[in-house]
Amino acid sequence: MHKTSMTKTVPVKAEALARNAAGKMQNVDAVAQALSGFLASTYTLYQKSLFYHWNVTGENFVGLHSLFEQHYEELHKAGDALAERIRALGHFAPGTLGEFCALTQVEEDKKLPSDARQMIMNLLESHEICSQEARLVLKAAEDAEDDVTADLMIERMAFHDKAAWMLRALSK
Ligand SMILES: [Fe+2]
Repeated sequence: MHKTSMTKTVPVKAEALARNAAGKMQNVDAVAQALSGFLASTYTLYQKSLFYHWNVTGENFVGLHSLFEQHYEELHKAGDALAERIRALGHFAPGTLGEFCALTQVEEDKKLPSDARQMIMNLLESHEICSQEARLVLKAAEDAEDDVTADLMIERMAFHDKAAWMLRALSK
């Protein structure tokens, strides 16, 4: 009796495990895809911060030049961590400017903003976009039970929220 029930349940369990594994793979693919978009946004914001660091002018020059530098250095490090996480999930990371332009949620500058205030407003909007995007990646990571990516997203959200707070304070 016991043996019969075992032989009946094993194939069912194996099938369930296989289905579960396939579902998890799909979820991992979704995480890698979401991370690729977020990497593109992070890199575009990195480029924007660097662009403004070089070209900012005005009475707040020293403070803004230095704040933008802190931001681009942090964003560069973050981009590396995001790309390496995508690799750890078994996918290749996007890395060409064309791929980043196609995937980013942060709009690339077509020309230099007119003044420091416009730079601050553009960066504020970009950090808010990145924070929202990180939240979406976090959701995909939770669905895939991917705690490492989820941890990384909490870190990213904390950075973008803090940067947005500072830029908002500067914009008053
Ligand atoms: Fe510099």
